Amino acid sequence: MSSQDIPEKNLPAARETTHGEVADEQHPFADPGLPPHEHRVQDIDEQAAKRSERSVALLFTLSMLATVAFIAAFVAIPHDKAIYVFPIGHLNALNFALGVTLGVALFAIGAGAVHWARTLMSDVEVADERHAIAADPEVRAKVHADFKQGAKESVIGRRKLIRTTMFGALSLVPLSGVVLLRDLGPLPEDKLRHTLWSKGKLLVNMNTNEPLRASDVAVGSLTFAKPEGLEEEDHAFQNEIAKAALMIVRIQPDDIKDKRELEWSHEGIVAYSKICTHVGCPISLYEQQTHHVLCPCHQSTFDLADGARVIFGPAGHALPQLRIGVNDEGYLEALGDFAEPVGPAFWERG
Ligand code: FES
Repeated sequence: MSSQDIPEKNLPAARETTHGEVADEQHPFADPGLPPHEHRVQDIDEQAAKRSERSVALLFTLSMLATVAFIAAFVAIPHDKAIYVFPIGHLNALNFALGVTLGVALFAIGAGAVHWARTLMSDVEVADERHAIAADPEVRAKVHADFKQGAKESVIGRRKLIRTTMFGALSLVPLSGVVLLRDLGPLPEDKLRHTLWSKGKLLVNMNTNEPLRASDVAVGSLTFAKPEGLEEEDHAFQNEIAKAALMIVRIQPDDIKDKRELEWSHEGIVAYSKICTHVGCPISLYEQQTHHVLCPCHQSTFDLADGARVIFGPAGHALPQLRIGVNDEGYLEALGDFAEPVGPAFWERG
């Protein structure tokens, strides 16, 4: 239904509209004025207004129900339950439910408010006239005179050497900003995908700087390791250790729940990246009874007995595991590089 279908007597009183003006020399662009006002159906039909009111109320009620569902999901869904959602794949059920319900609650409030404003709030059109952009002729003349006076006092007209060198300096100075753009490169290419670990590289204790023997690693202890050959004096030490740092833990093989973790370990000795997959803090706190490691930055917690999966906190991915073995002399050695990139946020970049 439109305002054309409503009997004349039901229409609200006509409002004044701005009438167009004719262009002249002073005002080269004529003001076209406002188009005729179209009444909304809700302004002229009480039934339509009631329908809009009910729609707005329905949206606000939907928001309330979604908020109740959010709280119920938070209380009822276990934090480690996973569900399959087509086409995304496996997701944490609690995060999914919280996201959907909170999204619906916020969307319904927004949609209700917009519908309310568009259909029921006042429909008065208000014109805010712009003032003239050009300054008064007196002001322009004064600025002009001041500029000329300034130029005269600066003697820039007579001192050609100063004028030429000043223009040269002003034109060249932006080049320093352009030159600095070079520091945006070079691109890292695949440097973030690989670490110093490779087949046969020994695991060296970060504290003693000695290669680690399997017999040195006791059950319940936490040892930090670096690749053989990487020394603190090396120019690239910080960059390399930021990718290659390891946590070594010995767990009773029967306590290891993840099959791949067991295969990649040596007699219960497991090696995981020390770099948190949230925003990259070094992980340092180990709880030997539960085999949980905790990142001190935002409390992400990983279960080292279950593939280092995330059991709490904002980290989105398990810690990468390094496959290890022992050489003929009993020293722990890597059997290759990490199978996935270490560190934060890299995963989303593919
Ligand atoms: S960096 Fe580890 S939880 Fe944020």
